[in-house]
Amino acid sequence: MKVGIIGFGSMGSMIARKLLEHNVISQSELTCANRTLAKMEGFKKLYPDCTVTDDNKLAAKADVVFVCIRPAELKDVLCGIAAAVSKDTLVVSLNGSVMFSQLESVLAEKTRIAKVIPSVNAEVDYSVTSVCYNKYVEPKDKANLEALLKSFGTVTEVAENELGMASELTSCMPGFIAALFSVFAQKAEAHTSLPPSQIEAMLAQTLEGTGRLINQKQLGFSEVLSRVATKGGITEVGAAEIFENFGKVAAAVFDKTLEKRKATTEKAKDSF
Ligand SMILES: NC(=O)c1ccc[n+]([C@@H]2O[C@H](COP(=O)([O-])OP(=O)(O)OC[C@H]3O[C@@H](n4cnc5c(N)ncnc54)[C@H](OP(=O)(O)O)[C@@H]3O)[C@@H](O)[C@H]2O)c1
Repeated sequence: MKVGIIGFGSMGSMIARKLLEHNVISQSELTCANRTLAKMEGFKKLYPDCTVTDDNKLAAKADVVFVCIRPAELKDVLCGIAAAVSKDTLVVSLNGSVMFSQLESVLAEKTRIAKVIPSVNAEVDYSVTSVCYNKYVEPKDKANLEALLKSFGTVTEVAENELGMASELTSCMPGFIAALFSVFAQKAEAHTSLPPSQIEAMLAQTLEGTGRLINQKQLGFSEVLSRVATKGGITEVGAAEIFENFGKVAAAVFDKTLEKRKATTEKAKDSF
């Protein structure tokens, strides 16, 4: 499978590395394009048989081309590659805010397009990648793309109008979890002489252990809770406080992020 990556920033370089680290494709099957060629020097040294270029059209001549570009530059990049994209190429945009109708308006008629939202957890191959497809995508395109994305976690397909919430739950959530646990760590500090580094290590290990417990033993959140919170015990008191008060915070998080997402989509519409 020939794969192109346009935009060798945080996301593009991660996808390139993961596909090669896991031997999902060979070096000679990958072409990476970036505006600043020098950014790919280290990568080219590590993977000498890959093609690196500042010509986006070269990377667009692929079975699957990942367009890992920020929304402000996306339209220009797509216009630049439209003629090089064949009818069999799957164009994958990593931006959730730009709608299929806008992407389709600058690419050739019936271009197959996917939108993909990776998560930083891909770095440890334990991520959920959300994906949605336009109406021209065929089953073999989905199979090709999912084979690539599965090298760094699971893949979940959603409708275009659900990509926002899917992004909050999979791509933003590592950040939300980090924020939540840093609040727990701060509040614990006020009640203990344990050093902050020890508090953070305890929480981080417990966080990973709880994730493993849920996933490996197939326990739901409520089952974990019932295993820990015995009737009239200490965990029950703490959990009741969370249920009583944290709901307001969680609701406000989604209200704010989805509102911000709407505004970003509107801004993206203007730039197309
Ligand atoms: N970061 C995340 O966690 C995350 C998660 C999910 C989705 N996304 C989405 O993924 C997309 C990429 O994000 P990112 O974080 O990877 O951005 P980034 O680190 O800023 O990378 C963007 C890359 O695009 C290159 N570029 C800009 N204009 C170009 C052009 N005309 N031709 C070729 N290359 C060009 C830049 O090259 P230079 O070296 O010249 O600047 C840069 O390397 C965005 O739409 C973002 O919303 C990001």
